[in-house]
Amino acid sequence: MRTGREMRLVSRPAQRIPAPENVALVEVPVPAPAAGQVVVRNLFMSIDPGGLLRMSDLSEFDIPFFETGAPMWSDAVGEVVESEYPDLSPGDVVWHRFGWREYAVEQGTQFRRIDPAIYPSLSHHLSFALVAYIGIEVAGVRPGDTVLVASAAGGVGSIAGQIARLRGAGRVIGSVGSPAKARYVTETLGYDAAFDYHDGCLPELVRLGANDRLDLYFDSVGGPLLEAAIDVMRPRGRIVMCGQTEQVRSGVPTGPRNMLKLVGKRLGIQAFYTFDHPDLVSKFEKEFAGWVHDGKVVVAETVVDGLENGIAAAVGQLRGEFVGKVILRF
Ligand SMILES: NC(=O)c1ccc[n+]([C@@H]2O[C@H](COP(=O)([O-])OP(=O)(O)OC[C@H]3O[C@@H](n4cnc5c(N)ncnc54)[C@H](OP(=O)(O)O)[C@@H]3O)[C@@H](O)[C@H]2O)c1
Repeated sequence: MRTGREMRLVSRPAQRIPAPENVALVEVPVPAPAAGQVVVRNLFMSIDPGGLLRMSDLSEFDIPFFETGAPMWSDAVGEVVESEYPDLSPGDVVWHRFGWREYAVEQGTQFRRIDPAIYPSLSHHLSFALVAYIGIEVAGVRPGDTVLVASAAGGVGSIAGQIARLRGAGRVIGSVGSPAKARYVTETLGYDAAFDYHDGCLPELVRLGANDRLDLYFDSVGGPLLEAAIDVMRPRGRIVMCGQTEQVRSGVPTGPRNMLKLVGKRLGIQAFYTFDHPDLVSKFEKEFAGWVHDGKVVVAETVVDGLENGIAAAVGQLRGEFVGKVILRF
C-alpha cells in the first residue's frame, strides 16, 4: 500500500511560534478512494502566517483553526492519481485546501480542476494575488491615489502595490522589513518608494511626503504601521485590512492608540476574507492571468523544498527571511 507523510498538530504553541514538540511528521497509509473520492498527490502548498496562527485556539476571534491530533491544512496544488469521482481523472491538476500532507484523500467535490498552462509555474496558483486583488476591489483605487501597502515584499503586499498601480494609483509606497526589500520593491515591483518600518513608521511616512496625502492603506500587519497610517491619512481616506501579522508574531494585541483620529478624519476601515467574495474569483482569474502573461505583474515567490522544512519555513517567513509568496514544494 502507498504511504505518505502528513504534518500533525500535537499541541498548541505556548506563544504563537511553535516549538518542535508542537508538531509531528507522521507516515500514514494512503487508502484507496471510496466512491466519490479522489487521491491527490500534492505538488505545492502555501506557507503563510495564517498557518502558524491556526495552531492556536482562535475560537474568540471566530477564525477556523487546526484540531490537535489531526493533520494541518492549507491551500495546495496537486495531481489526481486515483479517482472514484466522475468529474476528475488521474493526471488532472487540482487546487484544494488539504496541504501539509503528501497525499490528500477526500471527496472529489473538495477539489477544483485548474488549467496548468495558465501561469508559467503551477505554484502561481497559490499566489496570494487573489487576496491582493479582492482587497483592491473592496477598497476601490481612484486615479492619482497615494497608496501605502504593508509588507510590500510579502505574499499579499508584493502583488497589492502592483494592482493598485494598474488601477490608476498615482504614488505607491511600500513598508518592508529591510533595506534590501526596499530596493526589491522599488526596483523590481515598481513601487515609487519604500521604507524599513524598523526605522520608525511615522517619521518615514513623513519623510516620503505622505503626510496628509495618504488616500488608501492596504493593511496586513496592524500595530505601529496602522497607527502611523491613521496619522498621515487624508480626511475620508480608506483602510482595507486582510490580516494583522503583528499580532500573529507577538501574540499580544498592539492596537493603534489614535483611534479617535478615525472619527475626526471620517476614515473607513474594511476588513475582508477572500472567501467572502466568490463572485470576484473568475474575474480575477481572467484579469490576473492576462497581466502575468503580458508581463504587467511580477509574481514574487520563494520556494522551499520538503514537508519536513515546512514549519521552519513558516517561522522564517514570519521573521521576514523571504521575499514574495512562500511556497513549499513536495
Ligand atoms: N483575509 C484573507 O482572506 C487573507 C488571506 C491570506 C492571507 N491573509 C493575511 O494576510 C497577511 C499577509 O499574508 P502573507 O502570506 O502575504 O504574509 P507575508 O506578508 O508574506 O509575511 C509576513 C511578513 O510580514 C512582515 N512582518 C512581520 N511582522 C511584522 C510587523 N510587526 N510589522 C510589519 N511587518 C511585519 C515580515 O516581513 P518583513 O518584516 O521583512 O517586512 C513577514 O515576512 C497575513 O496576516 C495573513 O494571515 C489574509
